Amino acid sequence: MSENTQDRGHSAEGTHRRIVVTQHGGPEVLQPLAEVLPEPGPGEVRVKVQVAGISGYDLMDRRYSFPGGPSVPYTPGQDIVGVVEKLGEGVSAVEPGQQVAAFTFGDAGGYAEFVCRPAEELVPVPAGLDPAEAVCVVVNYLTAHMVLHGTAKMRSGERVLVHGAAGGTGSALLELGRLAGLEMYGTASEYNHELVSALGATPIDYRTEDFVERIRNATAGGADAVLDPIGGARHVWRSYRALRKGGRYVGYGMVATAKGGRRAIPLSLLMLVLLKLIPGGKQASMSAEIASFEQMHPGWYRETLAELLDLLAEGKINPVVAERIPLLEAARAHELMERGGYAGKVVLVTKSYRVSPDVGT
Ligand SMILES: NC(=O)c1ccc[n+]([C@@H]2O[C@H](COP(=O)([O-])OP(=O)(O)OC[C@H]3O[C@@H](n4cnc5c(N)ncnc54)[C@H](OP(=O)(O)O)[C@@H]3O)[C@@H](O)[C@H]2O)c1
Repeated sequence: MSENTQDRGHSAEGTHRRIVVTQHGGPEVLQPLAEVLPEPGPGEVRVKVQVAGISGYDLMDRRYSFPGGPSVPYTPGQDIVGVVEKLGEGVSAVEPGQQVAAFTFGDAGGYAEFVCRPAEELVPVPAGLDPAEAVCVVVNYLTAHMVLHGTAKMRSGERVLVHGAAGGTGSALLELGRLAGLEMYGTASEYNHELVSALGATPIDYRTEDFVERIRNATAGGADAVLDPIGGARHVWRSYRALRKGGRYVGYGMVATAKGGRRAIPLSLLMLVLLKLIPGGKQASMSAEIASFEQMHPGWYRETLAELLDLLAEGKINPVVAERIPLLEAARAHELMERGGYAGKVVLVTKSYRVSPDVGT
């Protein structure tokens, strides 16, 4: 069924819309497609999506084909919040009408009005939350939790440099870093410095300042850890130099591919190999991704996501939502992320998006 058979505002009965990457390329390759509603198989649940998150990975996968990445045509989107609509055979852990959050474990598919997912991926959302804030917790705060506690093993009082500190994962790192009692520094464009300070870190303008010198001066010798979503051989090298003896560099993303292309990845990995050869006790590694971390630590995903949603319900974390953009304008949302000039996480909202009246009361 093509988009032309639909009116623009509503899906016909028994159908829904999803966004498809038709071929690798710019934001214009994100196209809406109308089709019949997916049916949940055994052990699956059909979820009416309220909000789908956009992550830096969605942009990388849209631009380039990577080994192990999705093949076109596919629907992007790794994190959703929505309402349970229909149960597949054998599902009893959730009930229709219940609000849930989910990570899609490498299958993507979140940019849609309805998705069918395995019941074990669905984590109940506490009542009264804004689904746009709740969806930030899924990829961004889970990643931040994994990087901070699982990989870098940060301890209270340690000094950390967070790159991309006003971005989706960067702002989550600052929020969890503050709860963990860290002394924090964050690189960001000048327009984001107020936010970085409000999140408890000392801002450094990576465009005009030498972050190595700033960190060495501020910490009398170097940071205990650098947490880096940017990558790129030179940037990794400079981040390593910002560490004290015994400090650790943890990379977890490749924003550098936006300017440097796909080759930024092997060049960054080569730099990490070279850094391991340098004596002096500093460590440099890439963090796992959420799916592989869950494989190494079964149960971590559900337990940590539930914990993070509770922190949100208690008001102990306040995710930064950059913009709520209608699902069918996914291309505009990707354009915004490529242009920059925003802070926090850009999310896509469907017609089912509602903020409960008691939010913020
Ligand atoms: N390992 C995992 O499981 C995992 C999970 C999620 C995301 N990631 C990866 O993490 C990366 C970031 O994702 P995201 O969703 O947080 O992206 P995002 O919200 O777009 O944030 C990226 C930030 O990078 C900043 N930036 C760009 N160039 C920079 C530089 N040279 N130095 C310092 N900051 C710079 C921008 O800040 P300004 O606007 O202030 O300039 C922007 O806020 C992506 O590569 C993504 O694939 C990994």
